[in-house]
Amino acid sequence: MKTSAWPPAAPLAARAALSAALAALAGAESPTLTAQALLAHVLGITRSRLLAHPELPVAPDQRAAYEQLVARAALGEPLAYLTGQREFHGLDFLVEPGVLVPRPETELLVDLALARRPGRILDVGTGSGCIAVALAANLPQAVITAVDLSPAALAVARRNARRHGVLGRLTFLESDLLSALPASSLPAPGRPASSFQLIAANLPYVDRGALCDLPVARHEPWLALDGGPGGLALVGRLLRQAGPWLAPGGALLLEIGAGQGPAAQSLAYAAFPAARCQVHPDLAGHDRVLEVALPGPVRPA
Ligand SMILES: C[S@@+](CC[C@H](N)C(=O)[O-])C[C@H]1O[C@@H](n2cnc3c(N)ncnc32)[C@H](O)[C@@H]1O
Repeated sequence: MKTSAWPPAAPLAARAALSAALAALAGAESPTLTAQALLAHVLGITRSRLLAHPELPVAPDQRAAYEQLVARAALGEPLAYLTGQREFHGLDFLVEPGVLVPRPETELLVDLALARRPGRILDVGTGSGCIAVALAANLPQAVITAVDLSPAALAVARRNARRHGVLGRLTFLESDLLSALPASSLPAPGRPASSFQLIAANLPYVDRGALCDLPVARHEPWLALDGGPGGLALVGRLLRQAGPWLAPGGALLLEIGAGQGPAAQSLAYAAFPAARCQVHPDLAGHDRVLEVALPGPVRPA
């Protein structure tokens, strides 16, 4: 008979709860961090306070909630879905199973975008809104349109924008890539261009053929991961659609997967033969962001 890692019901100190959770999480990813983060979440305190006070009591209802969360973590559910939040670019983002958990690799795209100081920005495939909200929080003059195919993701992104006080400068739109953008935004004879100085996108880029075997696909939305055959189907479609929406001197910054740099660069040159196309590696040295910089004067925001 399998014995439980948890001591029999009795008043429990945080220290004892943590060691029971560690035993239950054996084999899971980052068991120590997961056990601590979940207990801090259940107790409503920071992880550093928990570590400083291992004698804190865990009430019976807190213990029951903790046991349940630890069991879900042991089955591979991402920590961010269990606590309902994830830090990204120094800000706390609400997340839930309908959206991709923001990844640290994506912070590179935000840093490259901030360096350009764009005033009018489009974020395609906004998910939790982490890119759009981080840009709005750091660029007080910027106005941003954020699109996604998923209404559930847009609802989370809107909550994150409100949470960080930037809702007034963001417009959310349900759209398949750029198809639902109002044509009235396009430049026309006699009408000044109000097109974007930056199009940022972290679209799905996992090769569909590899997706079934990836543990990530068991918990995070397929729509956020499936990049079609080869992985670059959506990136290619966006590159082909983006031209009319970009201001002279504007740029695209697109997150891509490790090893996708050369193929992504060819797609970019096919769509923008006069542009400067560059692949930026992440901290691990993997291809991570494709930058497509259009020629032309860069107008101030
Ligand atoms: C990889 S997730 C990125 C989410 C977020 N930007 C981030 O960096 O964490 C890709 C997002 O693109 C959205 N998406 C997928 N196909 C799309 C399409 N054809 N048009 C617009 N958004 C799409 C998904 O719903 C998902 O939210």
